[in-house]
Amino acid sequence: MSHQNLRFLVQPGGKLTGRIRVPGDKSISHRSIMLGSLAEGITQVSGFLQGEDCLCTLQAFRTMGVQIEGPSEDGNLTIHGVGLRGLTAPDTDLEMGNSGTSMRLMSGLMSGQTFDVRMTGDSSLSKRPMKRVTVPLALMGARIDATEQGTPPLEVHGGSTLKGIHYAMPMASAQVKSALLLAGLYAEGETSVTEPAPTRDHTERMLRGFGYTVHTEGNRISLEGGGKLTATAIDVPSDISSAAFFMVGASIAEGSDLMIEHVGMNPTRTGVIDILRLMGANLELLNLREVGGEPVADIRVRSAKLQGIRIPEELVPLAIDEFPVLFVAASCATGETVLTGAEELRVKESDRIQVMADGLQACGIQAQPTPDGIIIQGGQLSGGHVTSHNDHRIAMSFAIAGLGATSPILIHDCATVNTSFPGFVTLAQQAGLGITTDGE
Ligand code: S3P
Repeated sequence: MSHQNLRFLVQPGGKLTGRIRVPGDKSISHRSIMLGSLAEGITQVSGFLQGEDCLCTLQAFRTMGVQIEGPSEDGNLTIHGVGLRGLTAPDTDLEMGNSGTSMRLMSGLMSGQTFDVRMTGDSSLSKRPMKRVTVPLALMGARIDATEQGTPPLEVHGGSTLKGIHYAMPMASAQVKSALLLAGLYAEGETSVTEPAPTRDHTERMLRGFGYTVHTEGNRISLEGGGKLTATAIDVPSDISSAAFFMVGASIAEGSDLMIEHVGMNPTRTGVIDILRLMGANLELLNLREVGGEPVADIRVRSAKLQGIRIPEELVPLAIDEFPVLFVAASCATGETVLTGAEELRVKESDRIQVMADGLQACGIQAQPTPDGIIIQGGQLSGGHVTSHNDHRIAMSFAIAGLGATSPILIHDCATVNTSFPGFVTLAQQAGLGITTDGE
């Protein structure tokens, strides 16, 4: 996993055309490994995302004795499930790399095991808050040690007896919800969470796909411990969070007409489409269908004049990973865009409010960070030097910004793009972006 200074150099202008397919959904790919490993029987996965984050999850389960064949070049995996009680103690630390999803969801799952594990992360993950999972898991009876600041490495002690609790989540986080539900598989009685706003529901959907009963009543999600998971087939759709870069790119680049195929349309993930449409984007959803319990569509994007908007707060959790590139859309729009209620962006792979504001300012845009959001005045992106702070989505957002810029953009620290979007540069070139790399 190299995090050396891979740089992107993006030439200004151009347009995006043709048909593309972006890689598999990251959230669904993680969960396919976790639930497939803990199921009884053989789970076949297709469309698995071979990004570093999901490969960390895959490797962790291999280290705990699960036989997993693949992934093949086109993302096929065969997981020989060991059952909920079938994992074996790893003889090394579980390395979670850059992946908050792996670390937080696994905290829940590992709390229910009979053995101890130690989970480590890279420099970004080592700064991210884990108390949001360790505190409620401790209420269930889990024993997890973190640093004094509540950051990784985490040591999860096995052999605890877990009890179901009810937990009212203080923040809208699918990772916290999922950690508790996954611990709940091992707990006595019912585990339930309420969420302050809807968050992605892939864990609930996939548990049901594996034959486990999960109740959703309004904002309350619950399950009973002591059941079992039965192997199934999982077809992972393309990641809407990866598609978002191209939705924005084709919207801002005049003359674009791009088809993005087979994109996951789970309603807890489609905030980016709603926000772009409010800004005046021309997005057409075609061939809507259901694939393995998740809605999927092809998205046709044609360039459009965008307007600045006040982003409705209820859309924030439904577009949480797409804000870096939405800020690029706002920079190319007419007028002001105001985001509020998005303080969670400050604790992602980087502080996405500050890092985007710095980068946009370096490219000639007025971007004013606020404690829980940002105010962006649409204008003309110039060009310039920016750093992604090793955040994959920041790197790709500034690559897309090149389409609306007047001179080249040089982006530092782009190697982490491989955590979520292997092949980004090649695919972006094919679609029409003038992007090259150096410094590998
Ligand atoms: C994810 C949930 C989100 C998201 C992350 C993936 C998941 O995090 O930002 O990229 O797969 O559950 P939060 O739930 O912490 O907002």
